[in-house]
Amino acid sequence: MAILLTGGAGYIGSHTAWNLIEAGHQVVVVDDLSNSSGEAIARIEQELKVKVPILKADLRQTEAVEAFCREHSVESVIHFAGLKAVGESVAKPLHYYQVNLGATFSLLEVCRSLKINRFVFSSSATVYAPETPSPLTEDAPLGPVNPYGQTKAMIEQILADETQARPEFSGVSLRYFNPVGAHVSGLIGESPRGIPNNLVPYIAQVALGQRPFLSVFGSDYPTKDGTGVRDYIHVCDLAEGHRLALEWLAKGQQGLQFINLGTGKGSSVLELLAAYSEVVGRKLEHELVARRPGDVATCFADVDKAQRVLGFSTKQSIEEMLADSWRFNQQNPQGI
Ligand code: NAD
Ligand code: UFG
Repeated sequence: MAILLTGGAGYIGSHTAWNLIEAGHQVVVVDDLSNSSGEAIARIEQELKVKVPILKADLRQTEAVEAFCREHSVESVIHFAGLKAVGESVAKPLHYYQVNLGATFSLLEVCRSLKINRFVFSSSATVYAPETPSPLTEDAPLGPVNPYGQTKAMIEQILADETQARPEFSGVSLRYFNPVGAHVSGLIGESPRGIPNNLVPYIAQVALGQRPFLSVFGSDYPTKDGTGVRDYIHVCDLAEGHRLALEWLAKGQQGLQFINLGTGKGSSVLELLAAYSEVVGRKLEHELVARRPGDVATCFADVDKAQRVLGFSTKQSIEEMLADSWRFNQQNPQGI
């Protein structure tokens, strides 16, 4: 009996694979390697001395995915695979709807056909309406403002409908806040292609000397120091949340639950930069520039439901997240 990780070769999927394998689960992966290399899985295999079967295919290749799941007796799924760049989704909305929705439809067909009845989905805090004050609870109004976020909200609706139609099918939609950091071994971590969109990978490139300074997007927000505030969560804490969600589903739950995964605490851009400078041991340069369109001032989670339902709480501090990011980047300056 195996757990299928779609997109398991990527950043969050590979950390979740490591967590699940260490906990004694059998893991298989479908990934088209469009945004990853397969190296993370190879390193996990070597380090944990296991074989992780991987099907290199687009999830929309329904027949191939079904055959692979049958071969490995898949009994539950964590669905990470998808496109995730907000700016690109604004430029190429049709592509984002096609890939993210098409992949999910195909996967749900396979689940129906093989009676795979436990499903965990990678959603995002981006589904919440931007004007809602933090901390964000799971019943806060939805209102994604870009096609990427729309696909997350649509998939949540599709999953809700599917759990209604098939009472034996149940799911958890995990709404991630800002995953950062890397495995403590430095073997796997975040390897964005091209110029990083996200804050921590960008700071890491400044620390490596690959970029001269961080552009801080906006310094006039109504926050503690004028810069944007987010809820940064260690990717290994996040991975643990997936294991708890699967184990909770295995107790025989019904329907679809929406659960935030964050720390419940907000940090500003300048605080993160200062903390990264501390880890690196020298001052990392920055320039204050205009706000990035679409950004909100403050976004952090209410974490009560994750604690209450899953027994989830985060363990790692900002300093640990950034120390792990730095270790991974030093060991893999060109990514993996
Ligand atoms: P990632 O790009 O590192 O991983 C996604 C993986 O899916 C990649 O390995 C990619 O090759 C694969 N993939 C993409 N489309 C595919 C397809 N059609 N068929 C098969 N494989 C496909 O991204 P990540 O940061 O690990 O994110 C995982 C999930 O979490 C995504 O759904 C993302 O939207 C969601 N999420 C991420 C963040 C974040 O900040 N990283 C925040 C909220 C939600
Ligand atoms: N920022 C900078 N400079 C940079 C990059 C980011 O100042 O070069 C700032 C942003 O303005 C924001 C903060 O750093 O205030 C965090 O930005 P990120 O891009 O790292 O993260 P976001 O909160 O904007 O978005 C992330 C994911 C999205 C997801 C969203 C909510 O990238 O995919 O969290 O889950 F939708």
